[in-house]
Amino acid sequence: MRVTTRQASPVLILVMGILTTVLATHAYAQPALKDAYKDYFLVGAALNEAQVSGTDSCEVALIKKQFNTISPENLLKWGLVHPEPNKYDFGPSDRYVEFGRENRMFIVGHNLVWHYETPTWVFQDDKGNPVDRDTLLARMREHILTVVGRYKGKIGGWDVVNEALDEDGTLRKSPWLRIIGEDYLLKAYQFAHEADPQAQLYYNDYLLENPGKREGAIALIKKLQSQGIHIAAIGLQGHYNLNWPTTEDVGKTIQAFSSLGLKVMITELDIDVLPPASHSQAAEIGMNFELQAKLNPYTNGLPDSVQQTLAKRYADLFAVFLKHRDSITRVTFWGVTDANSCLNYWPVKGRTSYPLLFDRHCQPKPAFDAVVQAARHP
Ligand code: GLA
Repeated sequence: MRVTTRQASPVLILVMGILTTVLATHAYAQPALKDAYKDYFLVGAALNEAQVSGTDSCEVALIKKQFNTISPENLLKWGLVHPEPNKYDFGPSDRYVEFGRENRMFIVGHNLVWHYETPTWVFQDDKGNPVDRDTLLARMREHILTVVGRYKGKIGGWDVVNEALDEDGTLRKSPWLRIIGEDYLLKAYQFAHEADPQAQLYYNDYLLENPGKREGAIALIKKLQSQGIHIAAIGLQGHYNLNWPTTEDVGKTIQAFSSLGLKVMITELDIDVLPPASHSQAAEIGMNFELQAKLNPYTNGLPDSVQQTLAKRYADLFAVFLKHRDSITRVTFWGVTDANSCLNYWPVKGRTSYPLLFDRHCQPKPAFDAVVQAARHP
C-alpha cells in the first residue's frame, strides 16, 4: 500500500514528536561520569584532532557532558609537534588546549620523552650516525622547554617520560638510554620542571600490575626521588582485557605506588574484548599482526553475553579504583567511543573493537551504566 504525503504527515509528526521527547528525556536523564565521580576523582578521555576541532559533533557533545579532564591521544607526541629540527606544528595541540580551557577541564600533556613516535633525526646527525650525549641532551632540553613552555600554566600535568622500562623492570634499551645514559630520566624531569615549575610531572607506563615491572618502576621512582625530583603521580596506562590484570593486582599496584608518596592515575583505560593477537601481554606500540577472521569475531555487533561480561569487568575495576579513591586523582579512557579506539587498528589493523563505554553511535553501553552504578556504592 502506498501512503500519501497527506495521509502520512499527521502520523509522522506524531511519531517524530514522541521520538524527540523520548530522546530528549533520555539525554536529559543520562548521567555524567564527571558528576557521578565528582567526590572521588576526575574522569577523562583521550581526544583526537577531529574532536578538538569540533568536526565530530556527537562525540564533542559527549566529551563536554561526560568528562572533566582530557589527554591528547597523539596531538602532543614529538613526531607530530616537532617533526623536523627547526619545525614545530602547534596547530592541533593549540586547539586541544583551547578546547580544554573553554570547557574548564584539567588538561594533560602526553608525552615528552618516549622511545616511539619520536623522529629518527632526533637521535642522528646529518650523516645518519648517532649523535653524542651532549647533542641529544641539548635537543631534549630545547624540545621540552619549547613545548612545555608554550602551555605553561595551561597544561596541568605532563607525562614527562613514557614507557622507560622493559617487562622485567630494567631500563629499556632505547636510544635515549644508549646515547645519554641512565640519567636521561633525571634530565627530562629537570627540564620539564625548569619549563613550568607549577606543572605536575608524571611517569607513565604499562604492565606495572605485573610484579617484575612494578618493582623496576618502584626502584626508578625511588632513585628519582633521591635525586630531588618530585614525581606527582604515576600513570598506570590501563590497557586491560577481560582477564588481565586481576583486580587484586590492580589494588596492590595502587597501594605500592601510593606508599611512595605518589598519587596514582589510570591514564589510558580500555578493555579489549577481542581474542589476543599474540601471547605477549605487552602493549608494545610497534606490534603489528595480520588481520584474520578469528581475531575479529564481532564485525556485526557485540553479543549480549560479551556486553554483559564487559560491563561486569568495568564495574569490578571501578570498585577497586573507588576503594583506593584517596590515592587516585583521575581515570582517563583511551578514546571516547568504540569508533575511534586505537584498538580498531592496533595491534591488528582493521578490527571491530568494543573497549569503551560508548558505542559507535555515541550511545552508552551497559558498561557505562555499570560504571555510573559503581559510584553509587563506593
Ligand atoms: C601507549 C602510548 C599511547 C598510545 C598507546 C596506543 O600506551 O602511551 O600514547 O600510543 O600506546 O595503544
